[in-house]
Amino acid sequence: MIVKTDKEREAMRAASRVVKAALDAAERFIVPGVTTIEIDKVVEDVIRSFGATPSSKGFEGYPNASCVSVNDVVVHGIPSMRTVRDGDIVSVDITVLLNGYQGDAARTFAVGNVSDKDKALILAAEEAFFAGMEYATAGNRVGDISSAVQLYTELHGYGVVRALTGHGIGKKMHEPPEVPNFGKRHTGAPLKNGLCICVEPMITAGDWRVYIERDGWTVRTADGSKAAHYENTVIVTDGAPEILTL
Ligand code: MF3
Ligand code: CO
Ligand code: CO
Repeated sequence: MIVKTDKEREAMRAASRVVKAALDAAERFIVPGVTTIEIDKVVEDVIRSFGATPSSKGFEGYPNASCVSVNDVVVHGIPSMRTVRDGDIVSVDITVLLNGYQGDAARTFAVGNVSDKDKALILAAEEAFFAGMEYATAGNRVGDISSAVQLYTELHGYGVVRALTGHGIGKKMHEPPEVPNFGKRHTGAPLKNGLCICVEPMITAGDWRVYIERDGWTVRTADGSKAAHYENTVIVTDGAPEILTL
């Protein structure tokens, strides 16, 4: 596990600002009738306008600048000609490389008028993240974050996806440690000042089980329930965590 120097932290902040700008552009662009590949195009254009690179493009053969995951797709939805419609929920996950360092964040957006139930699901993913942040301090351990995310999620009646986790981040998109969204307090890697991690609750309105489609990427809920994803890149400090992609 690698902790970042002040200079590296500054590079992480810069990459994260690009991620945030791309997420904001995606949010403004998403209305009923747009296709997920058009969303991806907007994301890629914003990233490149900063002189940055979309890290997901070519990552283990992934084809696009963003993951765009609609309704029961949890994560890793491949942009396509699929049109998003009124009432859909769309998760957009973006990783950016700028000057050698990565930023990574995701949000779930409502398309037009979504049900109160789906609005609550989207909000719960965000709140689960912030429940985890209460424990994201040097001296604690990864399991303290994980258990807080799980507790919040399950107390509110949602499923917490286990097949995918958060992760360390830096020069690479995925670095140690893994940051699961479930687990036990006082377990796992110790959190240190300067550790950069992505905390990313993936939660479902039903059962937590998922499967991967035959395209090798698209992760869907097994029961067809909708899912939400909320992710930020975070620097652990001796005090409150520095959340870079807000
Ligand atoms: N952004 C994702 C994460 O949160 C990973 C993207 S997978 C890729 O870890 F294949 F799309 F790059
Ligand atoms: Co991500
Ligand atoms: Co991530």
